[in-house]
Amino acid sequence: MDFSITLSWPGGSRSFDANSELSVLELAVAAGVPVPNSCQRGDCGQCKAELVLSDGIPPTAEKIVYLCMTHSLTPSEYRLKGDPFRAPELVRAYRAKVRSIDRITENVVRLVIVTPPNKFMEFCGGQFARLTVVDGITRDYSIASVDPISREITFYIRLLNSGKFSNWLTERATVGQLLQMRGPMGCFALLEQAVGRSWFVATGTGIVPIYALLCRMDDDHSRLCGQKTLLWGNRTEGDLFLLDELKTVCAAKDIAFQVIFSQDERHPKARVTDILVKQDLADSAVYAAGFSQMVCDVHKLVLDRGLCESRFHADIF
Ligand SMILES: Cc1cc2nc3c(=O)[nH]c(=O)nc-3n(C[C@H](O)[C@H](O)[C@H](O)COP(=O)(O)OP(=O)(O)OC[C@H]3O[C@@H](n4cnc5c(N)ncnc54)[C@H](O)[C@@H]3O)c2cc1C
Ligand code: FES
Repeated sequence: MDFSITLSWPGGSRSFDANSELSVLELAVAAGVPVPNSCQRGDCGQCKAELVLSDGIPPTAEKIVYLCMTHSLTPSEYRLKGDPFRAPELVRAYRAKVRSIDRITENVVRLVIVTPPNKFMEFCGGQFARLTVVDGITRDYSIASVDPISREITFYIRLLNSGKFSNWLTERATVGQLLQMRGPMGCFALLEQAVGRSWFVATGTGIVPIYALLCRMDDDHSRLCGQKTLLWGNRTEGDLFLLDELKTVCAAKDIAFQVIFSQDERHPKARVTDILVKQDLADSAVYAAGFSQMVCDVHKLVLDRGLCESRFHADIF
């Protein structure tokens, strides 16, 4: 194919030859542009970009695409929200050691690992690390916290039936075991733009990147976020974890916090979408994290409620 594709970002751009057999993500990575990515199947949203020109013409409405699922058949330009060359500077490989493994609810394990004495991993709230354990099983997990003194890194991991990493955690992982880690990665971050109201929406372990985002929110970002609400959907009270920590950070940062249960007899049955559907979101930003079905439902609903696409941020597991 004798046309090119352009990938641009604030402060830079790169053009490369098109090839309809490869996704735009594959072409960009082959051309040396380290576009953030994870699942490579349109689930995680890491490779999100905006189509700004197709065959020289801007689309009639804002058009967000996942580059891993996009094959360009005409000369096109896609715009990334952040500079892809900036984040990878901080991505490093670490040999880490398991410090503790605690089953804190029926289905959630807190995994704490520690990096060697001279290797401390900085991260921004909302980022994740890529863990590789025995047999090369590699999965991404949001970083809940990094302790600068002990160098302990904490993850909260939902156990899935027959999941490979889940099985490693419950059956084979032991304290002291070595694993490989790459990180930090990801661009789930707060907007640099003032809005009237910010909604932080999570289900299950989707609360982890949101918790980290809120912990690291400084006063400037807090002001830009306007009025702040955290909605956390769970099935029952038994699914809750990190609750005291969440209450503390919400109290300190003036964030209204609501936990919603979908299947607990002691509480009215509700979903996070039941709250959002009643809102006018024209002057809001929405940050959603969790399994893809929930994030897709929230995405569709908030756009219907007037939210502008560029103010929707997702971290999809
Ligand atoms: C950026 C990012 C951050 C994330 N952060 C977190 C986090 O903080 N906490 C968290 O819990 N998760 C997080 N995840 C999800 C995590 O990466 C894993 O996908 C998840 O833990 C499942 O891994 P697993 O190896 O246990 O399951 P997998 O082996 O990947 O399997 C997933 C599911 O598919 C089913 N399955 C697998 N193979 C088949 C098959 N052949 N046929 C039918 N079904 C099959 C399994 O039974 C299981 O239910 C994150 C993901 C991303 C992309
Ligand atoms: S890498 Fe494209 S959506 Fe996950």
